[in-house]
Amino acid sequence: MIKSKLLLLFIFSLTISSFYAGDPEKGKALYSSCVQCHGDQGMGKLEEKAPKIAGQHEWYIINQLNAFKNKTRVNPKMYPYIKDLSSKDYEYLAAFVSKLK
Ligand code: HEC
Repeated sequence: MIKSKLLLLFIFSLTISSFYAGDPEKGKALYSSCVQCHGDQGMGKLEEKAPKIAGQHEWYIINQLNAFKNKTRVNPKMYPYIKDLSSKDYEYLAAFVSKLK
């Protein structure tokens, strides 16, 4: 009985951790659409008035992407590029961008 409960707990924790773990490799692929404004290293671009995002906290990046998506933060320039991405994609992107130097 205890064994099966432990097993359930184990499976549950695996599911949770894989659900929240952003995969930087997937993020890298998605990031190709961001390069034109934020630069290949996330350093930002003055001409586009796009800020530096390299090394930013994952939770902050995810928060901002969600805010742009639901338009509590308005950014007509960037909106078309992020509107069709899923919250999973945001996690991948954040995992990748936060590791840029
Ligand atoms: C067309 C240009 C453009 C593209 C493409 C673009 N962005 Fe942006 N991004 C901007 C601009 C401009 C801002 C600043 C908006 C503002 O002043 O509030 C911004 C802001 C951000 C911020 C918030 C930064 C902060 O410090 O609050 C994040 C995070 C971000 N972008 C991530 C991304 C990601 C990830 C992608 C690719 C999926 C992307 N952007 C694609 C132009 C762009």
